[in-house]
Amino acid sequence: MSLHILQPFDAHLHLRTGNMAELVTPMSAAQFADVIVMPNLNPPITTVDHAISYRNYLLEIAKCNYHMAIYLTESTTVEEIQLAAKNPFIIGYKLYPLNATTGSQSGISDIKKVYPLFEKMEKLKVPLLVHGEVTRSDVDIFDREKVFIEEILTDIVQKFPKLRITLEHITTAEAVEFVLSNENVVASITAHHLLINRNAIFTVDEKTALNPHNFCLPVAKTERDRNILIKAATSGNPKFFAGTDSAPHPLSRKESSCGCAGCFTGLHALELYATAFYQFGKLAKLEDFLSIFGRLHYGLEIPSNDYITLGYEKYLIPEKLGEENLVPFMYGQILNWKIIGE
Ligand code: NCD
Ligand code: ZN
Repeated sequence: MSLHILQPFDAHLHLRTGNMAELVTPMSAAQFADVIVMPNLNPPITTVDHAISYRNYLLEIAKCNYHMAIYLTESTTVEEIQLAAKNPFIIGYKLYPLNATTGSQSGISDIKKVYPLFEKMEKLKVPLLVHGEVTRSDVDIFDREKVFIEEILTDIVQKFPKLRITLEHITTAEAVEFVLSNENVVASITAHHLLINRNAIFTVDEKTALNPHNFCLPVAKTERDRNILIKAATSGNPKFFAGTDSAPHPLSRKESSCGCAGCFTGLHALELYATAFYQFGKLAKLEDFLSIFGRLHYGLEIPSNDYITLGYEKYLIPEKLGEENLVPFMYGQILNWKIIGE
């Protein structure tokens, strides 16, 4: 049994810099023909110039079609948005709420301050990519996405109905519902959120224990939420598409008293997505989700004759990679799908 699909598109990817970039960039380039690269570096990528120089840096490491997201800050100018709109390598702006996740120290604390920027983006049809979580200490961490939708996103969509919004890495029933009921809102879905629920953060080798390698943001939710995400991802609705949110951190930053958020799926994202779709008897929907719907949303060319082949074969996920001791998601486990050729 094998699966022949058009070269896929990753709509949400962290590639970093330095040794980590050298390690992970070729892996994603081997899996995906097009990727959207996240701007949460240190310092963050807040300008078109910086995004283009980072893109050139990545091209030196591995060949791939890199589409760059720029970090929206309270200091972003309307003039920058005009520049971004004209640049074919810029895909849109990424909104991080202040302190919501890794590298969000330059994020937005007062959303109203960036409303004039949304107005410009709406007019120029520049997409907004949203990390949809509030960070108030009185809101339960498992409710952050739901409350963001209620308190922040609903107002943005009402004020800027034509603004093209991607709600990134959705994790909840409420997010699926919001996407379904708002015309200009779409969503990316990770492989890990299709494969684990929040119990996995508290399970190691079937024992109850803290598992930092399953901790990412937004944090995984309940089994009910996971089932609703799978239903959305496999529904054939073009509003839902793949974005891995592969987020590599060295082992020392994961197994730590201050453990970073992020699951690394860059090595084996396609195998993981295939595993999830196969479990639910929906392999026939995988190509649209991986290769068509995301590109349609962003107006990217759909490859006509470039394929990748997944075989129904055992694939043991390595425990660690490179000098960074990078631990892949589901390390040590065996999947039944494996890339076997073009
Ligand atoms: C991401 C990272 O490490 O850059 N971490 C994560 O848990 N997903 C940031 C992000 O997308 O939230
Ligand atoms: Zn991310």
